[in-house]
Amino acid sequence: MSEFTQRIMTLDEAIETMRGPALSEIGQIHHQFVLDNGSRSDRFYEGRWISGDPLALYEQKLLQAIEKLPPAKSYHEIGGGIGLVPITLGLMGHKAVNIDSAQVRIAHGENILSALANDYPDLSHRVQMLCASVPQAFAEVDTKDALAISTNLGAPRSEEFFKSFLRTVQDLYAEYIFDVCLLWGIHRTERDWQDHLEKVSTVWKTEPEFLFDVGAARYYRVRF
Ligand SMILES: C[S@@+](CC[C@H](N)C(=O)[O-])C[C@H]1O[C@@H](n2cnc3c(N)ncnc32)[C@H](O)[C@@H]1O
Repeated sequence: MSEFTQRIMTLDEAIETMRGPALSEIGQIHHQFVLDNGSRSDRFYEGRWISGDPLALYEQKLLQAIEKLPPAKSYHEIGGGIGLVPITLGLMGHKAVNIDSAQVRIAHGENILSALANDYPDLSHRVQMLCASVPQAFAEVDTKDALAISTNLGAPRSEEFFKSFLRTVQDLYAEYIFDVCLLWGIHRTERDWQDHLEKVSTVWKTEPEFLFDVGAARYYRVRF
């Protein structure tokens, strides 16, 4: 067993370890965007390149909230983008899967894992990058005793999608931590938050527990 196999990092250590490789990859995304003049590339990570911080504030808070909970068997981020939350959890010693439908984002996540592979050879056994769309993607992962995580899936979804998505998450996962606007796009007001909370509570027939809010995001936890 290698020295690294046994090392379990704290959250702060994991973030520091991931920072260099993640920023280097985010820099590639940024340069690609500048070169392409916005025609086909990814602008989502631009703020992180400018601030020099790979994690958005909501991701930092999310990781801090997870750190305080009993460990799950594994963590699955649904729509995890380039996968910085799963990679950080992997560095802390957890098993984690980043599920994202965008091949280009999964490829950036794989590059970050490759950059860390020399120093942390076990990491690739703990962290998987899965390019697939939910709900179909759920068939490709072991959800038993896993904790699902979502930040925001971007564009607003149909009523039919959100009901079937939420029911499938409830059927498959032990627990779910999510931004309550996850399926409704980025317009957020107090009224939106209440409205979305009511909708998810109605589908699940249980009321999620408030965790934190930050900026335009409000996070909840539900145990099924
Ligand atoms: C707004 S980004 C959030 C990325 C990351 N969670 C973060 O906060 O940095 C939303 C991500 O969800 C992914 N996505 C959207 N619909 C999806 C689906 N049905 N299945 C898997 N991923 C999806 C997109 O490709 C995108 O990377």
